[in-house]
Amino acid sequence: MILVTGGAGFIGSNFVLDWLAQSSEPVLNLDKLTYAGNLENLASLQGDARHVFVQGDMGDRALVERLLAEHQPRAVLNFAAESHVDRSIHGPEDFIQTNIVGTFRLLEAVRAYWSALPEANKTAFRFLHVSTDEVYGTLGPNDPPFAETNRYEPNSPYSASKAASDHLVRAWHHTYGLPVLTTNCSNNYGPYHFPEKLIPLMIVNALAGKPLPVYGDGQQVRDWLYVRDHCSAIRRVLEAGQPGQTYNIGGWNEKPNLEIVRTICTLLDELRPRADGRSYREQITHVADRPGHDRRYAIDARKIERELGWKPAETFETGIRKTVQWYLDHPDWVQRVQSGAYREWVQKQYGR
Ligand code: NAD
Ligand code: DAU
Repeated sequence: MILVTGGAGFIGSNFVLDWLAQSSEPVLNLDKLTYAGNLENLASLQGDARHVFVQGDMGDRALVERLLAEHQPRAVLNFAAESHVDRSIHGPEDFIQTNIVGTFRLLEAVRAYWSALPEANKTAFRFLHVSTDEVYGTLGPNDPPFAETNRYEPNSPYSASKAASDHLVRAWHHTYGLPVLTTNCSNNYGPYHFPEKLIPLMIVNALAGKPLPVYGDGQQVRDWLYVRDHCSAIRRVLEAGQPGQTYNIGGWNEKPNLEIVRTICTLLDELRPRADGRSYREQITHVADRPGHDRRYAIDARKIERELGWKPAETFETGIRKTVQWYLDHPDWVQRVQSGAYREWVQKQYGR
């Protein structure tokens, strides 16, 4: 069995669904169910004995130690985190607690478990830490994309907390020999994406007739990867990655935010035209920029391709069409997410 933390979040739930679609190996899913955790994402697994869900904190060492002893996983995959940059600017405390202290406590519980394993299981064991490209900071327009050798220059409380967690993971390998793998991925998009992030927010706001808030000039660049491609990369790194190594994962899809928003509008104009016949583009509104906003991210994903043979399957064009269609097909999911804590967040972020 594998233990996944944060498996009710956006990427974690996609990973659990994908894993169980192609493997008989069970998943123990430990998730605290913060505002970002949504068990509805995993509704299709109801009654499936291969999915064991436990609501709990990865920073609860006694709980994690008990789960490890009881289920004896061969690997731990750490997706759990506070993940939204804007929230980290409003309130960094949770990011420090979860991403740094939580990861530290998880590492300690895992180390205790791993140290006591029989030699063969010890060698085969893996701790895979899911991280972000944001740890590398920001790029100028002509800079080469982030390679694994780039130095860490995090700029937001979120990216600083992820960078700190990456350093802990690295140190637990170098000092204690824990067989760790770290992945640093670019911006994901796809089904079950919480509509506080750019792509789902634009889709749900457009359909609700609300403004589409573009920060600053909208020329900030992100490198977009369809979430299921991220999941396949993680599976591949777990299978064949070298302990102690880090792997950058990206989609070779650099796009300015404004282009992303316009593409979503064009797709919605085609798939769900506005009643008045006008374009959703008319809802685009420029708002105040994010403080400390990183201008450009881009991933050099050649190492994972060269060493592990992984490449993304989706282009941005195919992935964004699937994503827009998924939101159109799942209005109940959107409605239930919106009727929760999400509404308070929208008020806090855009009420100003
Ligand atoms: P998310 O915010 O959608 O989900 C996070 C999940 O972790 C939620 O289910 C939440 O309940 C859970 N969680 C939070 N604190 C916890 C704790 N202490 N113990 C157990 N569970 C806890 O995040 P996401 O977008 O799915 O991101 C998953 C991981 O991937 C994060 O580590 C993030 O930094 C990283 N990442 C995300 C992206 C992206 O574009 N979303 C890109 C690269 C890397
Ligand atoms: O790069 C990987 C990271 O991508 C992950 O580590 C983070 O967990 C994930 O949230 C994401 O961070 P970003 O800050 O890049 O994603 P977000 O969707 O919040 O914003 C994408 C871009 O769109 C960014 O330049 C800010 C801008 N934006 C965002 C929102 C929510 C807007 O212009 N308007 C908005 O309303």
